[in-house]
Amino acid sequence: MFKKGIELVIEIKNLNKTFKNHGKEVFALKDLNLKIESKDFVCLLGPSGCGKTTLLRLIGGLEKGDNGEILEDGKLVTEPSNERGFVFQQYSLFPWLTVLDNVIFGLSLGKSSKEENIRRAKTYLKSVGLKNTENLYPHELSGGMKQRVAIVRSLVNKPKTLLMDEPFSALDIQNRHNLQDELVRIWQKTERTIIFVTHDVDEAVFLSDHIVLMGKNHGHIKEIYNNKLPRPRNKNSKEFLAIQNHITELLEG
Ligand SMILES: Nc1ncnc2c1ncn2[C@@H]1O[C@H](COP(=O)(O)OP(=O)(O)OP(=O)(O)O)[C@@H](O)[C@H]1O
Ligand SMILES: [Mg+2]
Repeated sequence: MFKKGIELVIEIKNLNKTFKNHGKEVFALKDLNLKIESKDFVCLLGPSGCGKTTLLRLIGGLEKGDNGEILEDGKLVTEPSNERGFVFQQYSLFPWLTVLDNVIFGLSLGKSSKEENIRRAKTYLKSVGLKNTENLYPHELSGGMKQRVAIVRSLVNKPKTLLMDEPFSALDIQNRHNLQDELVRIWQKTERTIIFVTHDVDEAVFLSDHIVLMGKNHGHIKEIYNNKLPRPRNKNSKEFLAIQNHITELLEG
C-alpha cells in the first residue's frame, strides 16, 4: 500500500493480540503487518469475530497489543491522542447535553476560547445539514442525525486520523447511503486519513481507496485490494458490481 515519496501515517509491525476466553487463549490478531498512507480511505473488511474492532482499538491506543508495534508518524502509539478521532457503532453522545454542547465537549479542554469553539462547532454542524439542531437533545434526533453529530464531534478536534467502527450499520439503507456520500465529501474536503471498519462489501467498495480483507482464523490479513474505481462512484455501474463480486469471492475463498 506504500508508494515511494508518499507520507506514511500508520505502520503496524508484527502485531499480536490474544484474549482469554473461558480459560483458553485465542488470537484476535496474529502477526499482523500493515502500512497506511496519509489521507487514504482504508476499509477493514471481514466476517464477525475476525478482529476488526480489536485492530481499530489498538490503532487508536485504547488497548495494547501483546507484542509487535504500531507507529504513527514514526512514533509508537501507547495511548489515545487528539490526533485520532473515534466514531463507534453505537451513538456515543451524552444524553444530558444538547447537540452543540456534545460537539464542543471535547474542545472545551483545549486552548481556544469558548466563542471560537462554538463558531467552529456550528460551521461543522451546518456542513452536515444539522444547522437547526444545535439546541436539541440526542433523544430528539433520528439515528442518522445522531451519527452525524458523532462524526462532527470527532472532526472538530481536527484529528489526523478518523477511526470508524461500523458507524452506519444501525441505520436504514437510505440513511446509510446518504451518510456514505457525506463522509466521502467530508473526507475529500478535509483530507483526513480514515480507517473504517465494515462487514458490508458494498460499503467498502463505495468508500475506500484500499480494502484490507481480514480472515476469520486468528485475525490475519488475507489480502489488500487497491480500489481504483474513479469517484464519484455509482453503486449500479458495471464496474462497481464487478469489484463487489470480486471482493465477495476473495472473502469467501
Ligand atoms: N474483551 C475481550 N475479551 C475476550 N475476547 C475478546 C474481547 N474482545 C474481542 N475478543 C475476541 O477477539 C476476537 C475478535 O473480536 P473483534 O471484536 O475484534 O471482532 P470483529 O471483527 O470486530 O467482529 P464484529 O464484526 O462482530 O464486530 C473474537 O474472537 C472475540 O471473541
Ligand atoms: Mg467489531
